[in-house]
Amino acid sequence: MDIRKLLADMTLEEKLGQLTQLNAIFFKKDNTVDITGPVSRLGIAEEEALLSGSTLNFIGAKDMKEIQDIALAHQPHKIPLLFMQDVIHGYRTIYPIPLGMGCTFDEELVEECARMSGKEAAVSGVHVTFSPMLDLVRDARWGRVMESTGEDPHLNGRLGAAFVRGYQGDDLTGKYDIAACVKHFAAYGAPEAGRDYNAVEMSEHTLRETYLPGYRACIDAGVEMIMPSFNTVGGVPSTCNRLLLDRILRKEWQFDGIVISDYNAYREMIKHGVAEDDKHAAELAINAGCDIEMMSATTYLHAKELLDEGKITMEQIDRAVLRVLDLKDRLGLFENPYRAASEDEEKALHLCPAHRDLACRAAEEASVLLKNEGVLPFDKSVRKVAVIGPFAKEQGIKGFWACAGRDEDCVTVLSGIRALLPDAEVATVRGCSWELGETEVPDLEEAIELSSEADAVVLCLGEYQQHTGEGNSRATLTLSPAQMKLAEAVIKHNKNTAAVIFGGRPLVLTDLAQIVPAMLYVWQPGTEGGNAVANLLFGEVNPSGKLSMTFPYAEGQCPIYYSHMHTGRPVKRPKTVYEGGYSSRYLDVPVAPLYAFGHGLSYTTYAYDQLILSDEVMTPAAPLEIGVTVTNTGTRAGKETVQLYIRDKVASVARPVLELKDFAKLELAPGESAAVIFTLTEEDLAFHTADGTFAAERGEFEVFVGPNSEELLQATFRFEK
Ligand code: NOJ
Repeated sequence: MDIRKLLADMTLEEKLGQLTQLNAIFFKKDNTVDITGPVSRLGIAEEEALLSGSTLNFIGAKDMKEIQDIALAHQPHKIPLLFMQDVIHGYRTIYPIPLGMGCTFDEELVEECARMSGKEAAVSGVHVTFSPMLDLVRDARWGRVMESTGEDPHLNGRLGAAFVRGYQGDDLTGKYDIAACVKHFAAYGAPEAGRDYNAVEMSEHTLRETYLPGYRACIDAGVEMIMPSFNTVGGVPSTCNRLLLDRILRKEWQFDGIVISDYNAYREMIKHGVAEDDKHAAELAINAGCDIEMMSATTYLHAKELLDEGKITMEQIDRAVLRVLDLKDRLGLFENPYRAASEDEEKALHLCPAHRDLACRAAEEASVLLKNEGVLPFDKSVRKVAVIGPFAKEQGIKGFWACAGRDEDCVTVLSGIRALLPDAEVATVRGCSWELGETEVPDLEEAIELSSEADAVVLCLGEYQQHTGEGNSRATLTLSPAQMKLAEAVIKHNKNTAAVIFGGRPLVLTDLAQIVPAMLYVWQPGTEGGNAVANLLFGEVNPSGKLSMTFPYAEGQCPIYYSHMHTGRPVKRPKTVYEGGYSSRYLDVPVAPLYAFGHGLSYTTYAYDQLILSDEVMTPAAPLEIGVTVTNTGTRAGKETVQLYIRDKVASVARPVLELKDFAKLELAPGESAAVIFTLTEEDLAFHTADGTFAAERGEFEVFVGPNSEELLQATFRFEK
């Protein structure tokens, strides 16, 4: 398609339509009642809504084709609609929430899962997914931490790029390739007090150093689109933030893909108090560099006036429209507006065994064994198992943003265990509800009876899926009094108890950790959750997940993360309370978290021998190699994520106590050893220096390798240039 010729032939209204994205409800022919309301609120006529160039929030191939037909019938130049959707961790087959995927430290697995969900989405008519979400998350109070792969820029960047490769394939020409949209640019994960949509205050240094690299990694991986965030950064909403959208994104990073606003974000600039009205909002967003306006029509309604007044230019409009047409063209929509949408393929692919198997494997790899005092794995030949707690039979374990996923597709812990142990007697009781702040345990007596009689007890606790996600921040992160009461009673009557904990964020598990012998954190594991949990508990699979986000000891520590700065008055023993006056302590809790970044146990053990450096001195021309041999010293095969960190000892600006620079996931049979050789280059040591350049400074560095951010082997080297 000659898109420039097409552009030259389009009216201004048609062009503005391409820059407007409306909910699918606006196109549904049988939905006139619903249409009248929202359309009038947008201020446009029904016919005008049908000129819009893209849509979101539709489900399924049938819907898609119907909507595409309606749009095509109204488009003077028969320009097909782009269909976008939040395909975040699966489409119909749901794999664990992205925070769980972060704990896999497995780029191949992430890519495979993204590919699988892209395929399911493509046959349902999706062309673009609003994923990956690359907001760095360090405050568990924020409900949307579940959408991110975690707290570390290096890990997020590598996994973000894997998501992009998985969705987009090589060049979007594959039948099942869909375009990716990285979000939310920028720093949406650092809202004040962990409250959603709240202001973000940080220096440009920290922004560039820590919060931007994840998005950048996706740009480098060729992501097609980017979404500015709802929040203000330094007082300026991202939607009109010229530093972010123009200087950094377009000029420095040379991004020439589509910038799409978040839902109604143009109009929210009025609430932020930086736009006077709709017209002003459109002017601000267009001049900052936004192309598509999601779910409002300020551009459509006011661009003509803004053009006449010289406040925006026709070049800006044309450039944005060309970007949209170009993506449609490369997706092949002008030749085939339905693209891969097919009801038959939906039936064949959605929830097919291969996809369920992959979702199960992902749920196994995402789960983190936080604690184990020899209880797990349970013996598969147990006679009586008690599965107790609000999540024992709960199917609502797919997590927030599960797109077309349904609770009824999800395998519960109870069904997973029953399927794995057909000969055992598996009894269950709910105990109490998962409501926040619940105090009543209606089934306490029955829970005590079942646990007293059982050979093994599985205690299913945690946080419900709707208690995280967008708009769901929490100020308390502990288990409810009812869940704790239930846990205490059950553990008192049976020491052979393991807690399986569901959650969309790191919960505060300090009290539970003191009484329960074993804790397996399974996040919101998705469709195959119960099967994965059963496999892990009974030793069919060896846990290997490592935390990609720190677990606080208490909410008051938030935000908390491993890669923090030094203080001038550090606490000597961070794991204890009341250490030394006038130090950077709390009077009532330790400064160390309950579980550190990178932590995760296994049913086997690993030994790390000493680090071997290729040299004592590193130069730009001679990268440094760091070798370590890891041995599986236990009796089971397992996977181990070997982590490499650095510390820049003296620099022109303070550097974090530790920074993850590389990792490798090994698979080792009992007794097997493997050598890992990491390479550090000048770029790995570079940072935004005091004089504003991005460079590595000469001097002494420490390098660390180990199984988590706390138990590390250490060596030193010098960087010279
Ligand atoms: C609002 C959310 O912030 C964003 O992540 C999402 O992609 C859009 N709504 C569209 O659903």
